[in-house]
Amino acid sequence: MVRPVATILLFSRAIYNVFFHPLSRFPGPVFNAISSLPYCYHVLKGSQVYDMVRLHETYGDIVRIAPNQLYFSHPDAWQDILASRRGEKKEDMEKAGWFYRASDELPPHIVSTTRERHDTLRRAIGPSFAEKAIREQEPVVRKYADLLIDRLSSSSSSRVTISDWYNYTTFDVIGDLAFGESFGCLQASEYHEWIKEVFASIHLFAIVQMMALYPFLRRFLSLFIPSSMKQARLLHKQHTVERLRRRMAIDRQDIMKGFITTCFSTDELISNAELLTVAGSETTASLLSGVTYLLLTNRDKYQKLVAEVRSSFQTVEEINFVSLGQLPYLLACLDEGLRLYPPVAIASPRVVPEQGAYILNTFVPGNTTVAVHQYSLFRRAKYFKHAEQFIPERISDREYASDRRDALQPFSFGPRNCIGKSLAYHEMRLILALMVFTFDMELCEDSRNWMDQKNFLLWQKGGLNIFIR
Ligand code: HEM
Repeated sequence: MVRPVATILLFSRAIYNVFFHPLSRFPGPVFNAISSLPYCYHVLKGSQVYDMVRLHETYGDIVRIAPNQLYFSHPDAWQDILASRRGEKKEDMEKAGWFYRASDELPPHIVSTTRERHDTLRRAIGPSFAEKAIREQEPVVRKYADLLIDRLSSSSSSRVTISDWYNYTTFDVIGDLAFGESFGCLQASEYHEWIKEVFASIHLFAIVQMMALYPFLRRFLSLFIPSSMKQARLLHKQHTVERLRRRMAIDRQDIMKGFITTCFSTDELISNAELLTVAGSETTASLLSGVTYLLLTNRDKYQKLVAEVRSSFQTVEEINFVSLGQLPYLLACLDEGLRLYPPVAIASPRVVPEQGAYILNTFVPGNTTVAVHQYSLFRRAKYFKHAEQFIPERISDREYASDRRDALQPFSFGPRNCIGKSLAYHEMRLILALMVFTFDMELCEDSRNWMDQKNFLLWQKGGLNIFIR
């Protein structure tokens, strides 16, 4: 008796979703309209970034990717979804709770929290991310960039896994900037335990997010989380508390200070400290690996960058935050790397307010989840000529004047965009310039297909192996 009733209910739901749902007029695959399972399948398989390229190519600028989710692939969608609407006396679109606040283990952090709390936290940390404050942090970034060059120069082998080394560097930088002590990765040539623990939880978080779409399943499956995993999580929390305690014993005007003075509880502080560590390091390290790969697989572009950097400086001492600002090709390479390999390749979903909203001049009903998907938008031939190719020249070349550069928003858009953008550019420019100035680089054959990666919130980077001389 139960089985036929359940079948009828599921069938009726499917018919409703496809033909009578308020989103039924939007294009997309029929299975995605029926259920969220195709979406979950690709997220859990790590292939959602590639699936979105296919979906937008097939269905156009707007795709219904799940019964209640629309993805938009158009430069104007950034403004329509993520911009502040307060000037028009409308509320901003809130971040989707099932995506950002899927786990209730710790309080939300600045990225996941509500609009009101975000305003307070952003105001508190804003001053330490201003250009002047970032310039004052240059010696810290420089210290670890130099250590990277030293460690690579003294390496016994000319073959190095550069992706690991970039990660060691950016983690050490953020450790020092936020906690007043590095993670010691460059010295030890390996990841610190604390970082391994954070990475392990990111993968798990992608699973928890999908479970949040099916709350009944979540309660059931959470019973099966092994106690060893819970134990590891507890240990990690203790490590963070100890780091924070040491940080709070010193009075420093750094990027953590605003959080320390504003967070309500130790748990909220832990949440923000973890977020800052990952957001401020994995992103820059990914981009550095991505751009190194793209340069080494496009030797003419690599040679052009080498020429720019080596002709601009006689010694490494001349290379600094200010002088690097004069190198247009270096910046163009980073921007083109951000286009083809955005560190935050996925979408940041928002919820349409109750009364509905117009996106791309199309009315979208209230409570719909809407998003702009970075990876697929940045690679659309409709907006970028020769979209699949690495062409830093597109920034200035007349041939690419028709590119929609306003589509490229790798640091997101609006009041919740990346606050670390300026720091990221300074750090990436410094590290890449020092690498190019000091070493000749060549890609190892076994890394030829390095960019064929899975993505679970962040890229699952395999080792990028190169020869340095
Ligand atoms: C290439 C490097 C980077 C990229 C591509 C990047 C990208 C992003 C994106 C897309 C967001 C919005 C996330 C969302 O709403 O879901 C974000 C937020 C954020 N990023 Fe970055 N980021 C980078 C580097 C950094 C660095 C170096 C720091 C700090 C040291 C940082 C700190 C933050 C913080 C604190 C937020 C939250 C801002 C807010 O909600 O007000 N990021 N980033």
